[in-house]
Amino acid sequence: MNVKMHSKSDPVVILISSGKGGSGKTTLARNLLASATADGFQAVGLDLDEQMSLRAWSDIRDTTIADMKSDGEESNLKEIPVEVANYIDGVAALQDIKDVEGIDVIVVDTPSGFQTGDAASVLPGLTSRSNFILVPCRQSATDTRAVKAWYADALHESDKASIVLMGVRRQSRSCDMANNMLAECGDVCPIIIRDLEVYRSTDQYGLGVTESNLAREKDPDFVSLWLWLRRKVGLNGNKTPDIQSKKVA
Ligand SMILES: Nc1ncnc2c1ncn2[C@@H]1O[C@H](COP(=O)(O)OP(=O)(O)O)[C@@H](O)[C@H]1O
Ligand SMILES: [Mg+2]
Repeated sequence: MNVKMHSKSDPVVILISSGKGGSGKTTLARNLLASATADGFQAVGLDLDEQMSLRAWSDIRDTTIADMKSDGEESNLKEIPVEVANYIDGVAALQDIKDVEGIDVIVVDTPSGFQTGDAASVLPGLTSRSNFILVPCRQSATDTRAVKAWYADALHESDKASIVLMGVRRQSRSCDMANNMLAECGDVCPIIIRDLEVYRSTDQYGLGVTESNLAREKDPDFVSLWLWLRRKVGLNGNKTPDIQSKKVA
């Protein structure tokens, strides 16, 4: 794996999982990877979904960076490696990345829904090896019902999981109802992520929403979400050298 080595502590593992397809798992995963990388952390993705959308995003990002370089554009964008593995091999694949020195953050993207048979033991294996689990959910009653049932079954009593309302219209009756319904089954993240075009436009170039070069497009809520999560998982400080030296000064 082509990852630079510079730290000896255990990486923080953030697992993205949800009982419903299209809930925003990969969107969350790629934006968390981009935010962590922008803060100077060495972040690596693990894509366990056979659609490999997170890996595709990382490949497109490589192309964007290469194109910028060949056009002579200045950029501080960094490549973000994403490993892929079959879901059934997810625990071993996660361990392989954990064993690589110098990684600060691993974001694991998973396929949707309940897994049965041999795959049933994978999610418990992943959750027990994760520092935090984010469960994206849309605001419709169908989505909240599905996520609620899944949460109760898969993550019951977990004190390291939070549901994130994703792609929502904030001031709407269904958003309030979703918040209430989800609060009955688990911890709900106080930051709600709206349905914004910038999630789609940045995806197209392998970027995160905080990396959009159109300042008015950036989603300030995702900045808050990342700061909130960073505190939850104890990723204190910002590893970007110029910010660190400003702190010392
Ligand atoms: N906050 C958002 N704003 C706009 N579009 C979003 C947002 N979150 C997710 N989407 C879109 O919803 C679709 C499904 O999201 P995705 O992350 O692929 O879901 P999953 O990985 O859970 O199947 C994608 O087209 C994605 O661009
Ligand atoms: Mg996905």
